[in-house]
Amino acid sequence: MKKLLPLMKKYIAFAILSPVFMILEVVGDVIIPYLMSRIVDVGIVNQDIDYIIKIGLIMILAALFAMFFGVSSSFFGASAGYGFAAEIRGKVFEKVQGFSFANLDKFTVSSLITRLTNDCNTIGQVTMMSLRMAIRAPFMMIFALIMAYRVNSSLVRVFLISLPLLAIAITITLSKARPLFMKLQTHVDKVNGVIQENLTNIRIVKSFNRQDFEEAKFKERNDGLRNTAFKAISYIIFLMPIFNLIVYSTIIAVLWFGGKQITIGSMSGGALISFVTYITQILMALMMISMYFMNLLRGSASVSRITEVLNTESEITEIYSPVKDLKDGSISFENVSFIYPGSSGPALNNINFSIKAGEILGIIGSTGSSKSTLVQLIPRLYDVTEGSIKVGGVDVRDYDLKLLRDKVAFVLQKNTLFSGTIRSNMKWGNEEASDEEIIEALKHAEAWEFVSTYEDGLDHIVEQNGDNYSGGQKQRLTIARALLKSPKVIILDDSTSAVDMTTDAKIQKAFKHNLPNVTTIIIAQRISSIQHADRIIVMHEGNIESIGSHDELIKKSPIYNEIYESQQKGVIGE
Ligand SMILES: Nc1ncnc2c1ncn2[C@@H]1O[C@H](COP(=O)(O)OP(=O)(O)O)[C@@H](O)[C@H]1O
Ligand SMILES: [Mg+2]
Repeated sequence: MKKLLPLMKKYIAFAILSPVFMILEVVGDVIIPYLMSRIVDVGIVNQDIDYIIKIGLIMILAALFAMFFGVSSSFFGASAGYGFAAEIRGKVFEKVQGFSFANLDKFTVSSLITRLTNDCNTIGQVTMMSLRMAIRAPFMMIFALIMAYRVNSSLVRVFLISLPLLAIAITITLSKARPLFMKLQTHVDKVNGVIQENLTNIRIVKSFNRQDFEEAKFKERNDGLRNTAFKAISYIIFLMPIFNLIVYSTIIAVLWFGGKQITIGSMSGGALISFVTYITQILMALMMISMYFMNLLRGSASVSRITEVLNTESEITEIYSPVKDLKDGSISFENVSFIYPGSSGPALNNINFSIKAGEILGIIGSTGSSKSTLVQLIPRLYDVTEGSIKVGGVDVRDYDLKLLRDKVAFVLQKNTLFSGTIRSNMKWGNEEASDEEIIEALKHAEAWEFVSTYEDGLDHIVEQNGDNYSGGQKQRLTIARALLKSPKVIILDDSTSAVDMTTDAKIQKAFKHNLPNVTTIIIAQRISSIQHADRIIVMHEGNIESIGSHDELIKKSPIYNEIYESQQKGVIGE
């Protein structure tokens, strides 16, 4: 909470005014029953119409007074609560932007979504309640108790029985419901997890006809959420009749003892009426306090989920005075080993190799042989566990992170475009790129060939995820986007798998001719994509099996030969 409170600063005026106004509303609320008793005891008893009208008018004024402060207090409370929630959401979002891949692995995307939406909302609501209910209830209870005591001090004794009874009932219920409320958020996480995974991949789900399976998976988690929510709520539902029982028993007791006092003349009818109202106010206040505690539990669960995010530091940090210039695209791996956080075995074992600036390096190997893992270490998507990686002769950990990621362009295995236009997507690579520069990059990536056929050219629309383009077109656009960063190193992780062989060959050629100083690393499934690379690394189970040119590997690498032969057969078979 200490970490979150400063975010309230902008709304501090609201946060102060809301409870102050709340107290004023309570004052109005407790005066009204007193005025009512005056009407009965003085006005009606003396048949004094003027007095009744006068007190009646004062009652209306008191009600208006209470209403005005009540509404204002709600308004300020809501502003402070939702404003606070928005600030927290902004802060968490900002934090997540700086997360490393390892951080994202740890939290999972769906849990981050729940934290950004649900948990922030809960904190906002609980803040609002803290400013209103948590102030209103105790003040209500104290003021009403004082007034009740003033009206009739002997009758106050009935509370000696009913208050502890109610307190016991509330404590038992809360202690039962508490763990369930704590669990609720984790269930929301799980439901969001399926929703998110399913919706982002809905096309795949449909093409594999996995709807039934997905529905069953969703149902299981949805039922889990429902059952927990229901169980938690049923405790609260159970509390209501107990509460009513205690309130009505207390009222009956008061009427009984009060009635007796009226018959012997030590209490007036009006006093009894107001006393009953105070009883309801006091017990209601106690109920409100218990509800508030319930929500406070939910809120505290959310607060710890939010602070967990805010307290997570990306382990990818910059050194004190980072190197701000990247000389060239030469790369060397020196005794590099890597273990994924939380995973038992190493994904890379003692990797050693180096390439000169401008070289083209191919990487091939079966799936799971750690090809992607190897290249992800270069722009520091993850940091090495042991050893070091140098780009341009400098350890990657010594560079300014932004510079490193600008100069090492990475086209991920899963290519994503953002909704907008082709131009807006290209500007992700370089904010200032002119149309000429964009077209040149598109040409190098063999994308201009189809973009030039659109009437609106660079203004052609891109739907969410680039769904209105074929896989091959998307891949070429993402390559062009990476080229616009004018990188010194470009890494294509399986980025041409969906491009036909002829276009693929054209892209390779364009790279070789037009980007002679850019170091290019190409991870590919097809030998044809990397055949002409200066050197090729064959990966096998996290180790380099062989390294060399195509011709050398044909002579010395059994794995390379196996892949080569299987693909030759494929070609002949076609
Ligand atoms: N984010 C991750 N967390 C834990 N393990 C991972 C992660 N990504 C990949 N791995 C594991 O590392 C190994 C290598 O994966 P990867 O580099 O993606 O292989 P390739 O790209 O060669 O198909 C696999 O065993 C995979 O399960
Ligand atoms: Mg891969």
